[in-house]
Amino acid sequence: MPSVVAVVGATGLVGREMLRVLEQRRFPASRVLPLASPRSAGKTVPFAGKELQVEPAVPERFEGVDIALFSAGATVARELAPQAAARGAVVIDNSSAWRMDPQVPLVVPEVNPQHAADRPKGIIANPNCSTIQMVVALKPIHDLARIRHVVVSTYQAASGKGNAAVEELDEQMRAIGRGETPAVAVFPSQIAQNLVMDWKPAQDGFWSEEELKMVHETRKILGDDTIAVTPTCVRVPVATGHSEAIHVQCDRPLTAAAVKAALSRAPGVVVQDDGYAPGRHPQPLACAGQDPVYVGRIREDLCVPGAINLWVVSDNLRKGAALNAVQIAELVTS
Ligand SMILES: NC(=O)c1ccc[n+]([C@@H]2O[C@H](COP(=O)([O-])OP(=O)(O)OC[C@H]3O[C@@H](n4cnc5c(N)ncnc54)[C@H](OP(=O)(O)O)[C@@H]3O)[C@@H](O)[C@H]2O)c1
Repeated sequence: MPSVVAVVGATGLVGREMLRVLEQRRFPASRVLPLASPRSAGKTVPFAGKELQVEPAVPERFEGVDIALFSAGATVARELAPQAAARGAVVIDNSSAWRMDPQVPLVVPEVNPQHAADRPKGIIANPNCSTIQMVVALKPIHDLARIRHVVVSTYQAASGKGNAAVEELDEQMRAIGRGETPAVAVFPSQIAQNLVMDWKPAQDGFWSEEELKMVHETRKILGDDTIAVTPTCVRVPVATGHSEAIHVQCDRPLTAAAVKAALSRAPGVVVQDDGYAPGRHPQPLACAGQDPVYVGRIREDLCVPGAINLWVVSDNLRKGAALNAVQIAELVTS
């Protein structure tokens, strides 16, 4: 039966992408309600050839809603998600608010779809964007030989930080073109022509919160607390598309051929790997706007026998956020 779908944060980068994905996948919605902060009252957002009026996200607005896709940050999700769930909606939240709650499943449909059915709070969490694309690529390897250790370096796009961050990157590039010193407001330092680690520090003061998300969320999604994850998260001056260099060690030695074969069969993965060829590996510019997780440079490690190295690229706004959320909605309504 068609569902009433609310999109909370509909004016944001992820919310707008959710509307596009709902439309492109012909999600069976009888009605789509775009919600945002009171600042957006009077604005409209495009959906299915029409302009939909944006309304304030207040608890009463969730009466009669079947699916509530949240992408309005953790503070809003903490307050409003339980109120939407209490009114009968299945909440699918993109923020970090609920991800590690033991009563909230953390779901990537290609990896752990079965977890979506057990949702005692009526809330399902969408993992962090960097974690999603990594676990889609890791799951077939985990199934082959049980992963013991992952070392990952991320190259994360500005759009992972929302609308204002993309505007700042664009404006900084224009300022540099004019020979001016770029203004810095959203990022902690200039992002154009630079690399920045811009996430909040974790409590110990050595790691970032983003890095710890990759550790804990990977274990929860793959259902294995023994997996060691060593992340370094870096923001790069790319608009859209996160990239990751991943080194994997398993319980038994793997060959690149076996990993390539497993990844070639894996749902949601496109292997782009003809050995090393300049300019022929997965690149964020080409992956932006696309659905798959692209994997290339599948290599046996030079120094650690049996270990494998990968290069993984995906659109952080689609598979890293909006697409994954809509796929979860498809799971719970099918
Ligand atoms: N960008 C990514 O790649 C990505 C990936 C995974 C997860 N996420 C998560 O998704 C969420 C949104 O990210 P984004 O990139 O779309 O950010 P964004 O572009 O800054 O958009 C934020 C959205 O939240 C809405 N909002 C803010 N305060 C609100 C309130 N009090 N009540 C209702 N709505 C409110 C905003 O509405 P107004 O326009 O009215 O202010 C806007 O629609 C964040 O939790 C983020 O961590 C983002």
